[in-house]
Amino acid sequence: MPATVGDQNKASAPSWNSYKQSIGDRTGLFRALAESWSITTALNVGSYLDLSPSTSIPSVTYVDTDRRAARYFANHDLVMSELDGETLPGAATTISFLPADFLEPLDLADAAFDLLIALYTGPAWDSCARYLKPSGLFLANSSHGDASLAALDSRLALVGAIHHRDGRYRIDRDNLARYLVPKKPESASAELIRASGRGIAYTNPAFAYVFQLRG
Ligand SMILES: C[S@@+](CC[C@H](N)C(=O)[O-])C[C@H]1O[C@@H](n2cnc3c(N)ncnc32)[C@H](O)[C@@H]1O
Repeated sequence: MPATVGDQNKASAPSWNSYKQSIGDRTGLFRALAESWSITTALNVGSYLDLSPSTSIPSVTYVDTDRRAARYFANHDLVMSELDGETLPGAATTISFLPADFLEPLDLADAAFDLLIALYTGPAWDSCARYLKPSGLFLANSSHGDASLAALDSRLALVGAIHHRDGRYRIDRDNLARYLVPKKPESASAELIRASGRGIAYTNPAFAYVFQLRG
């Protein structure tokens, strides 16, 4: 039967599989995180279509204002089919999506998540720190300022630097003092970072960083 216009639209709707062609597959990143820390619940803000946290984590809540993300996560069968064969035992038991602005209060309990994820979005730390459990982890990069704000927040300690090379992810948990050293010390100002919505440059940059709330 010839495809109708509607079928063609459905076929070209973006999904995790198509998004991976631009960002790569981050499954290895979340495997490495799950091997290093016990993570049962995660909140992925500004997730767009990046479903990779669910390959390793049992319960993940995704948040985005983009309608394409809402449409994708509403299609549970497609989400589960894209995860087929990709998950660790016990992962992907709960996958939720909130079509919401993470800068505003979310319909979520405070201190509910083991891991907060903000990659290539934000800065989200100021508005979303409340959802992290005591001793919870914050995975962020410096593109929109989150890692730079986290580095200046005395409630957080750097516990890992994530390197990405040739499609592989590795977490460096040693010699952490060499990370997050600003190239220009005067740029390390939370006010300036919030105003610009950009992270600052570091002498020894990593793909992303893992911070932990001090107990
Ligand atoms: C560049 S994409 C990054 C997606 C994904 N985190 C990744 O690393 O590939 C940024 C996403 O953040 C979302 N976003 C930005 N600000 C947001 C906000 N305040 N609330 C919800 N989503 C937001 C955008 O809609 C977009 O889908």
